[in-house]
Amino acid sequence: MKLKACIFDLDGVIVDTAKYHYLAWKRLADQLGIFFNEDINERLKGVSRTESLKIILELSDIVYTRDEEAALAARKNQWYVDYISRMTPAEILPGSFEFISEIKNAGIKVAIGSASKNTPLILERLGLKELFDAVADGNIVKKAKPDPEVFLKAAEMLKVRSKECVVFEDAAAGIKAALNAGMKCVGIGSQKILSQADLVVSGLDKMNLEKLNSL
Ligand code: G6P
Ligand code: MG
Repeated sequence: MKLKACIFDLDGVIVDTAKYHYLAWKRLADQLGIFFNEDINERLKGVSRTESLKIILELSDIVYTRDEEAALAARKNQWYVDYISRMTPAEILPGSFEFISEIKNAGIKVAIGSASKNTPLILERLGLKELFDAVADGNIVKKAKPDPEVFLKAAEMLKVRSKECVVFEDAAAGIKAALNAGMKCVGIGSQKILSQADLVVSGLDKMNLEKLNSL
């Protein structure tokens, strides 16, 4: 089957927003008197905002109502939006723009498949709004990765079949989502965490058309 499209997760693949998520969650956890560190932050990668809050509240003695939880998630998001509003194109991860441009020139369609509701703001801050043929994000999907919904939606928007797509992901939940969608998958990061992927590289600067075609 000919490769027709590539779907990119955003956070951790094209930009490192994990550090801003960390700062905002840490601020909330400190306010609530809950322990939070980088290891717990790792568990939040690829996970939706609501699910992330649940993970943080696992260490809380207080049980919050649904409304209270929604207010806490909103408070965190306000801080997070403050941080990402100051991002510039200099924060695009090395090789991302070059690789995506290379495959686009070869006639391959490109989309974003991200859990983040802040995807439009991030793409705007990075100056990448025009680069993608489609954007499937947390604003249009209901089910979080490892559910394949976000990638299936991206394929539908691009009018391609699952088996014609390759997904790029930095989170284990995202790799599972790609496999559940019946798509090939490239892991961005450590082989240990992403062993289910068809190929693992340290970043998009290590990708090229030839490697993509050999999948
Ligand atoms: C991405 C990140 C997660 C984040 C999620 C929701 O998947 O990897 O860490 O929780 O998006 O982001 P949002 O911007 O909607 O809070
Ligand atoms: Mg990610």
